[in-house]
Amino acid sequence: MENHDAEVDSTSPIVLVIGTTGQVGKLIVDEFDRDPGNVRVRYAARKPEQVNELRAAGRDAVRLDLDDPSTFAHALYGVDRVYPLTGYTVAMLAQSKTLVDAAVKAGVRHIVHQGVFANWDVTDPHFVWHQVIERYIEGSGLEWTHLHPNVFMEGLSSMTPVDDSAFSVYWDDRRVGWIAARDIAAVAATVLRQGPSRHGGKEYWLSTEVASGPEVAAIFSAALNRKIRCDVRGPEEFKASIADRSITIESWYADAGVEFTRQAIDGRMGYIGTVRDDVEFVTGRPSISLRQWAVENRDRLTSSPSA
Ligand SMILES: NC(=O)c1ccc[n+]([C@@H]2O[C@H](COP(=O)([O-])OP(=O)(O)OC[C@H]3O[C@@H](n4cnc5c(N)ncnc54)[C@H](OP(=O)(O)O)[C@@H]3O)[C@@H](O)[C@H]2O)c1
Repeated sequence: MENHDAEVDSTSPIVLVIGTTGQVGKLIVDEFDRDPGNVRVRYAARKPEQVNELRAAGRDAVRLDLDDPSTFAHALYGVDRVYPLTGYTVAMLAQSKTLVDAAVKAGVRHIVHQGVFANWDVTDPHFVWHQVIERYIEGSGLEWTHLHPNVFMEGLSSMTPVDDSAFSVYWDDRRVGWIAARDIAAVAATVLRQGPSRHGGKEYWLSTEVASGPEVAAIFSAALNRKIRCDVRGPEEFKASIADRSITIESWYADAGVEFTRQAIDGRMGYIGTVRDDVEFVTGRPSISLRQWAVENRDRLTSSPSA
């Protein structure tokens, strides 16, 4: 566990966190609220009301719209370390390229990128976009750290909502590796606090437990003392859910998602179903298991009282 003796002062490094209203970003805010370490944290949000909310809670906040590079210089002024989180869209390519260029101009030293859990020669487009961004960061001259999270446990209650005690997976009965967003946030905050002298040039792999959909359902059922079922589906059903809008998702990302389900099933992305757990190496505490995550997220997983 970290132990910070030094006080934060006006010479402490400034960390800029982007995506603070998202699944991982809001947990990074929690991490820094709990332990700011020896850094000064600045939060970016794209809407003025989000910035005002952060400021009202006593935080340093700036407006930054990843689709509007004219907002970058002000947000990056004086910043030493950046967490440039992007959403589920092909726009991440232009957003990341322009942000990295601006970071170079602003004198940023360290960039910590949240990418994906991929082999170097992966062909699924969404994974490719993240790899292209990583290579661009490495070529920028900035110091870098790459995080490689596997499938978010949070996807079990958002993209495939648990409805009437059932959820769906679209990679048939294949096993995938899972990671809790809280673990990603803990790793990100630790790396951002400790900086490039400790974490520069490092890659951290975040796939902490492997389970198929039915195995997840069995773990959740035991943890919550109620029957939770997994509906095992495939790529065609995923496409149909996108077409009938029961899953809403940007079109390029949707195509990549369908490709992911195909490759997870046919074995080209078989490595998705492996454990590589760097959480404890970075944070000093064990990663969160599916069972623990289910207990912590009981309310979002179940709408009616336990059986
Ligand atoms: N889900 C998975 O299983 C998984 C696995 C591996 C990697 N990933 C990667 O994780 C990332 C997504 O993380 P997440 O789930 O935390 O994302 P998320 O919940 O969708 O949040 C995205 C954040 O980015 C902000 N944002 C979006 N567009 C913006 C813009 N133009 N300007 C400024 N901010 C903008 C959003 O702000 P608003 O509130 O204003 O929209 C939000 O705060 C993606 O890069 C994805 O590839 C996901």
